[in-house]
Amino acid sequence: MNVIVVTGTGTEIGKTIVTAALAAVASAQGRSVAVLKPAQTGLAPDEPGDAHTAAHLSGAATASELARFPEPLAPATSARRAGLTPVTPAEAAAAAAKLAEEHDLVLVEGAGGLLVRFDEDGGTLADVARALDAPVLVVAPAGLGTLNATALTTEALRARGLDPLGVVVGSWPDEPDLAERCNLTDLPEAAGAPLLGAVPHGAGALTPEEFRTRAAGWLAPRLGGAWDAEAFARSVG
Ligand SMILES: Nc1ncnc2c1ncn2[C@@H]1O[C@H](COP(=O)(O)OP(=O)(O)OP(=O)(O)O)[C@@H](O)[C@H]1O
Ligand SMILES: [Mg+2]
Repeated sequence: MNVIVVTGTGTEIGKTIVTAALAAVASAQGRSVAVLKPAQTGLAPDEPGDAHTAAHLSGAATASELARFPEPLAPATSARRAGLTPVTPAEAAAAAAKLAEEHDLVLVEGAGGLLVRFDEDGGTLADVARALDAPVLVVAPAGLGTLNATALTTEALRARGLDPLGVVVGSWPDEPDLAERCNLTDLPEAAGAPLLGAVPHGAGALTPEEFRTRAAGWLAPRLGGAWDAEAFARSVG
């Protein structure tokens, strides 16, 4: 498994931080890692993008971005409004395949949720994953509403012939409420895929050294870490 596509139930739910954790764990195991963000929206040319953030936090990964569109919108919309050429899923898949020739692991982070459009033909991250025949990891919020959004995302993956690798909670709160605690039990059922980790809230503010040291504690063995779903659920009550 040397390409993993990272999607989520929406935007701002922790895809970049989870991508950084995956990269940190793999690179701590001596694997070379590349992070690809095919289309980055909402940033000025000189601002660090998601690929850069994930590479930086993980301590050791190549960051790659194919295009940047200024307004914080879906890539197809942002490209259209800026009069720029959008990134197609085929281009994103080709870039990932090239990085995979030179790295042990390539992590491809989408923009927003799964069905956000990259181009005017309606191409999405699902098309990228299918072209690469890559597993898709779903990042989900911890709280109320996540069961439905996660189920919709994994159902959309399956409808496109893709198999969800699992679910990782993007930002696990310090003091989880009832819904958050119950979701640890119910998310795998809703997703039809295992819960493979939970990244604590605040992880994005750690130094790369701290982040890299702690990342294995947030991800399940399937993702290279040592996180145990049952023990975690017991520990939060
Ligand atoms: N576990 C976490 N610890 C600290 N901050 C977090 C965590 N998860 C997310 N955040 C913060 O929340 C915001 C959104 O997270 P992130 O950038 O990972 O979202 P995303 O799902 O990648 O969104 P996008 O669709 O824009 O790529 C960021 O400012 C990030 O620093
Ligand atoms: Mg992101």
